[in-house]
Parts: sequence; C-alpha cells; structure tokens
Amino acid sequence: MTTGAIEARGLGVVIDGARILTDVTVTLPQRRIAVIGANGSGKSTFARTLNGLVAPTEGAVRVAGIDVAREPRRARDAVGFLFTNPDAQLLMPTPGEDLALSLRAAGTNRHDIAARVAAALERFGLGERSDQPSYSLSGGQKQLLALAAVLVRRPRVVVADEPTTLLDLGNARRMARLLLEGDERGPVADQVVIVTHDLELAARCDVALRFAGGRLVEAGDPEGVIFRYRAEFA
Ligand SMILES: Nc1ncnc2c1ncn2[C@@H]1O[C@H](COP(=O)(O)OP(=O)(O)OP(=O)(O)O)[C@@H](O)[C@H]1O
Ligand SMILES: [Mg+2]
Repeated sequence: MTTGAIEARGLGVVIDGARILTDVTVTLPQRRIAVIGANGSGKSTFARTLNGLVAPTEGAVRVAGIDVAREPRRARDAVGFLFTNPDAQLLMPTPGEDLALSLRAAGTNRHDIAARVAAALERFGLGERSDQPSYSLSGGQKQLLALAAVLVRRPRVVVADEPTTLLDLGNARRMARLLLEGDERGPVADQVVIVTHDLELAARCDVALRFAGGRLVEAGDPEGVIFRYRAEFA
C-alpha cells in the first residue's frame, strides 16, 4: 500500500454483542474522502476506528502509515477527530484555555502558545471570545472552536463527523472550504475524512464511501456514488 493511504482490511466491529461493521476493505490514497449513508449505517463507527476511538474486532486499519490498534498513541497524535457534538471535545472553561491545552499537548514551545492561540481564534472568527466561558458560546461557535482545537495540533489526517451540522450557511461554507481547500497557509492536513449528510459537500471530495447496514457498499467517484444513493430514495 501507499504509506500515506488510509487502509482498512477486513475491518469488523462488534460492540457489546452488537455487530456494527462487517468486513470493510478499502484503500484510500485520496486527499479528501467523503463518508455517506443512512442513519445508523456505520459511518461514525468507521470514522472512529481511524484514530482508535473504536477498536476493530476483526481486521485492521492503517492511517498515516500507522497500524491504529498497534500504536494507539501515535494514531491519536497523527489523526485529529472532530466530533459532531463539540461538547464532547471542549475540555477547558474558555476558548483561549482550550486552544492552549491543545498546543501544550502537541508539545508547542510555551513561549509560542499565546501567539498561536490568538492566531487560531482569529482564523476561526473567535478573536473576541478568548475569555468567554465556552459553555456560553453558540452551537456553531463551539463547533468552530472544536475544529480550531483539532487543527492547531496540525494532525496529518483530520476526521470530521458531520462538521457542518450545527453551522449557519456562512460558517458551513467556511468550514467546508477550510477542510477541503485549506487557506492561505495551505491544506489543513494531508488527508481529510468528512462524514456528512450534505451531499453537495460530499460531491466536492475526491472519493466517496457509502455505508449501508454496517457494510461498505460502494467506494468511488463521488458523483456516481451520490447518484446511486439518491436513486434509492427516488
Ligand atoms: N455501543 C453500541 N451498542 C449497540 N449498538 C451500537 C453501539 N454503538 C453504535 N451502535 C449501533 O451501530 C449502528 C451504527 O452506528 P453509527 O453511529 O456508526 O451510525 P451512523 O452511520 O454514524 O449514523 P448517523 O447518520 O445517524 O450518525 C447504529 O445502529 C447504532 O445504533
Ligand atoms: Mg454518525
């Protein structure tokens, strides 16, 4: 396989006796990967195997050249995970402290932390909110902060589980543009995996995976994968 590719081989997941994923095998060298499919089809579970939040019951997953189950620590450092619900992610009382925590965890020189925190808040439109209690941020502001906290660590791969769900049109576009195109500093990561029900967003990726009933039913050009998914509901 290509060292940079995300790869699942015979991946199966059983949790508390319930079978959730069955025999997922795929190699993904593409930079932008969409994951689509019905509610309960296994998308989030698959996404969670990519940084070790969920362990394979069968088979294996490699991301950024790392066997996730064998090297969970390296996998967590290399793969940033953005939860749908930002409350699952925000650990500190204020945005400024949250970003500082992420930077410290990433081993940033402490003299650089204040400047990096300020730059990240600015980049995500949260420049005024460094010291506002995080619980009092709006849903969308929390989601932007959670993304900022993931990206300041500069992970090689970003996995985002429905990253635009809570966002208004402007912020959803901003989030999508950032994840897909990056900004003046370049792409946000080597690879981006986006779980989404927004098929326009999925269409802008380089490849789309469709899950159904815990199986990967199709992986390929987003246009075709999305067309056939839509056709099921026609
Ligand atoms: N701990 C668990 N015990 C039993 N079943 C579980 C467990 N975790 C997940 N499941 C089930 O596994 C299936 C896949 O869940 P998953 O969250 O991966 O779906 P999804 O495709 O992300 O759905 P959605 O679009 O609604 O977010 C669901 O039917 C879910 O209820
Ligand atoms: Mg989900």
